[in-house]
Amino acid sequence: MLKSISVIVMSFAASAMWGCGGEHATRSQMDEAHGDVGQPLSKLAVRGHMSSEAVVVVTMWQKDAPVSGARVEFSRSIAGRAPDYQWSGMTDDMGRARVEIAAKNVTGYYRARASRDGIGIGSWSSIPVNAGYMVMLNLPIGGKARVTSSSMLTESAEFTRANVATGGALYDKWWVVAGVSEPSDEHPLWAQRPDKASNTRSGSTTHLCKECHGWDYKGVNGAYSTGSHRTGFPGIRGTTKSPQEIFDLLKNAHGFGALGLSDTALWDATKFVLEGAIDTDQIIDQAGAFTGNRAGGKAPYDRSCVSCHGADGLTNPFDAIPNQPGSSPGYDHYPQVVANDNPWEFQHKVRFGQPGTNMPLLAAENITPTALANLGAYVQSLPASVASQKGVAEVKR
Ligand code: HEC
Ligand code: HEC
Repeated sequence: MLKSISVIVMSFAASAMWGCGGEHATRSQMDEAHGDVGQPLSKLAVRGHMSSEAVVVVTMWQKDAPVSGARVEFSRSIAGRAPDYQWSGMTDDMGRARVEIAAKNVTGYYRARASRDGIGIGSWSSIPVNAGYMVMLNLPIGGKARVTSSSMLTESAEFTRANVATGGALYDKWWVVAGVSEPSDEHPLWAQRPDKASNTRSGSTTHLCKECHGWDYKGVNGAYSTGSHRTGFPGIRGTTKSPQEIFDLLKNAHGFGALGLSDTALWDATKFVLEGAIDTDQIIDQAGAFTGNRAGGKAPYDRSCVSCHGADGLTNPFDAIPNQPGSSPGYDHYPQVVANDNPWEFQHKVRFGQPGTNMPLLAAENITPTALANLGAYVQSLPASVASQKGVAEVKR
């Protein structure tokens, strides 16, 4: 059920795990493959939906430098038919982009083209792609496309079973969600932040995924590129790592296994990284305004939020609901304050709830990006405080 949110929202939701499948072509075979256009492609039987999916991990180069910020697009090449560039991705700082190809008949040869700021910078042809495989592809500007390796996509039972909604909640105060003790010292990676001057927080805050990777999942390339939350750490969205690699990274390099998170929780977090870390640019503009239709957000707000936050958003939710865990006298962190001050945090909390409270998760209701953008636009327009009800509605972001 949750999977469909990510499918709508994400440009590449991989519900697949890839590892050594045993039967895949060797590196040298694949190296040759791009030149042998006439060779039949392998047609290995793969399980379920894998037969209609492939993943291409592109590395784009010019001279010896990676090409970042380029849009790379793929089309099947079918003789006598005009190319149709249906699958695309953006290269990151390392010149890498991950493009998931999903179609009825994936296996075949592909063309690729790249552009930056709308200007074409390269094109390639004769790229072999097999259904059920991940290929690593070098695209040198002005050179020939080259497949450097390929591995079979296989599904892991743990990853399939994992829960995106719990994973999204863990991105917030994971110790509350998982019921383990709150860390008191700094996260082991905190000392490594490239910018140590901007963000001087300490203690458990340094253990929040969001503190290092941002509510927009873009780390130093997003809202935390400046300001008091800047660490210089990268984002998680668009990672080219496999589910197993992410799981291992979280368990070991991030130390979350030792900090008490169970394997189940770590698989949930992994699933969230790959399927729940949406592209917030789809719903929030550069100025921080939700791009949805304000009027369209009223009905969902009235349905899902009014009971606790009040029609004007100014009710203390701890008072509204008896037996609500926690309490907050003098509460003024109203939904509209969060929505305006930090729309990226807002979209996350609306999707995954507020750890430790009984605020429901809209992720569980399969909220679409459009509905999320409408709800955000509506909440941003609510009065900022009791005093401002008659005056200016908006607060500063
Ligand atoms: C103290 C800061 C910090 C915290 C907290 C943190 N991370 Fe990370 N994360 C990092 C650093 C540093 C890297 C490594 C960047 C590199 O070397 O590629 C990283 C890398 C990652 C990557 C791989 C990104 C890529 O591009 O492949 C993922 C996924 C990730 N973290 C997820 C999480 C999740 C989920 C949580 C919370 C459960 C979390 N991180 C908490 C600092 C942090
Ligand atoms: C069952 C009651 C309940 C419902 C329904 C509910 N919330 Fe909440 N919400 C809470 C509680 C309790 C908090 C915690 C307040 C706190 O910790 O400061 C909260 C916190 C929030 C926060 C974060 C405030 C912060 O401190 O970061 C936002 C944003 C928010 N709610 C928005 C919404 C929206 C939008 C809806 C409807 C989609 C909604 N809530 C539905 C109970 C609810």
